[in-house]
Amino acid sequence: MTLKRTVMLMILGSVVSMASTTRVLELSDRFLDIRKDGQWLVMFYAPWCAHCKRLEPIWSHVAQALHNTNIRVGRVDCTRFTNVATEFGVSGFPTILFLNGEIQYTFKGDRTKEEIVNFALRVSGPPVKQITRTESLENLKASNPLFFVYVGDHAGLLWESYSDVAEKFQPHGFFYSVSPEIARKHLTVTSIPSVFVYKENTQYIFPAEPVNEDLEMGHLNASMFGWINVERFATFPKVTRGSINQLLQTKKYLVLAVVEENKLLEIPTEMLVFRDMIESVIIKNREKLHKWFQFGWVGSPELANSIAMSVLPLPYLLVVNSTTNHHHIPEDDPSQLTPEAVTIFLEQVYNHSAPSYGGNTLPVKLYRTYFEARTSLSDMWHGNPVLTAVLFGLPLGFLTLICYSICCSDIMDADDDDEEDMTHEKKE
Ligand SMILES: *[C@@H]1O[C@H](CO)[C@@H](O)[C@H](O)[C@H]1NC(C)=O
Ligand SMILES: *[C@@H]1O[C@H](CO)[C@@H](O)[C@H](O)[C@H]1NC(C)=O
Ligand SMILES: *[C@@H]1O[C@H](CO)[C@@H](O)[C@H](O)[C@H]1NC(C)=O
Repeated sequence: MTLKRTVMLMILGSVVSMASTTRVLELSDRFLDIRKDGQWLVMFYAPWCAHCKRLEPIWSHVAQALHNTNIRVGRVDCTRFTNVATEFGVSGFPTILFLNGEIQYTFKGDRTKEEIVNFALRVSGPPVKQITRTESLENLKASNPLFFVYVGDHAGLLWESYSDVAEKFQPHGFFYSVSPEIARKHLTVTSIPSVFVYKENTQYIFPAEPVNEDLEMGHLNASMFGWINVERFATFPKVTRGSINQLLQTKKYLVLAVVEENKLLEIPTEMLVFRDMIESVIIKNREKLHKWFQFGWVGSPELANSIAMSVLPLPYLLVVNSTTNHHHIPEDDPSQLTPEAVTIFLEQVYNHSAPSYGGNTLPVKLYRTYFEARTSLSDMWHGNPVLTAVLFGLPLGFLTLICYSICCSDIMDADDDDEEDMTHEKKE
């Protein structure tokens, strides 16, 4: 053990104390001295913030899941150590950062154990992870629902372009490379080098133009970026507040089946039938629709309500134009829709003959903010009228509301700095 490491461990021992029941390190302001040593996944919280409280048990599970990795999981109470919050530019609670030397990534997804752990694993290694054993590829196919893989030598235009784009999407996807020998055992390899995405037990190949030296690199980069950007989603994913902004980056139409899940994540049968019907449309017409439409389903009607800015009946079908944030709804009662009717409706959306609503103009944005605030308030009121009344009598009520609105801020606000968020520009 080197001297540096020993000293480091001694400092570590003195700045952190381990809560007895969890593997989460409780960090103080002396964390600033060691933040650049090793890899850290840190939650910045405030004791009064309800969303932080909800994250607490999940955070313990995250720490447990990452226990055998090099990533240390900690948390900082920002009301006690305000200088730490300032140093990292933390403005809302909870904020989850991954730190590795100079590199810093902010977690933007849904705060579930799985999402957070996957995020940490993606950003902790190199952007493209190499598969060296045959079994690893087999395991990957069994355990990982969606990943990208490059087959061939680490040289040439296709490789450069793949590794470059992998770096940009590192927080959002798993990227691997594998030798042709290993790949042939588990995948269908038609040309070398090539790039695949593996999802839903199917491989889709990156449609590369023949790679030759005259091919303009910029063109290849752009088509690789475009292809990975749209292929990184499942065919029919669950859409949440944490994932919708990434889905809007596809610049496609988002076709959303809106249903309601209960607390046990169960969906009533008639809604399930509707959701399966919508799914069948994309599965049967992938060739025709995939280029322009990204399908998905929403389990919490309030997300769909705030897009539509009204309380929608259930089940429902909502199509969002990801460039303009306009939305389209079928004229017929959605519960009576057939796959044929859905296809015709989508054609009308595509040829601009379907009526559109909403958008992202300022009045619409203001109205959406108002709608969301009203919904949050009425949820609070229905959840606990006494508490809501008391909270509004107290200055603390404002803090709670601020916390609430930061955490639930405008879903559709895919503005300019989202471009940066998407690639998680490495910040100093
Ligand atoms: C394409 O990506 C490669 C690999 O990072 C990079 O060297 C090259 O400059 C990029 N070309 C353009 C035109 O962006
Ligand atoms: C969204 O609306 C704009 C303006 O009407 C249109 O040009 C674009 O093709 C639409 N579709 C998508 C997927 O952005
Ligand atoms: C748009 O598509 C619908 C459905 O296929 C079709 O009936 C309609 O004529 C089309 N409108 C235009 C302007 O092309």
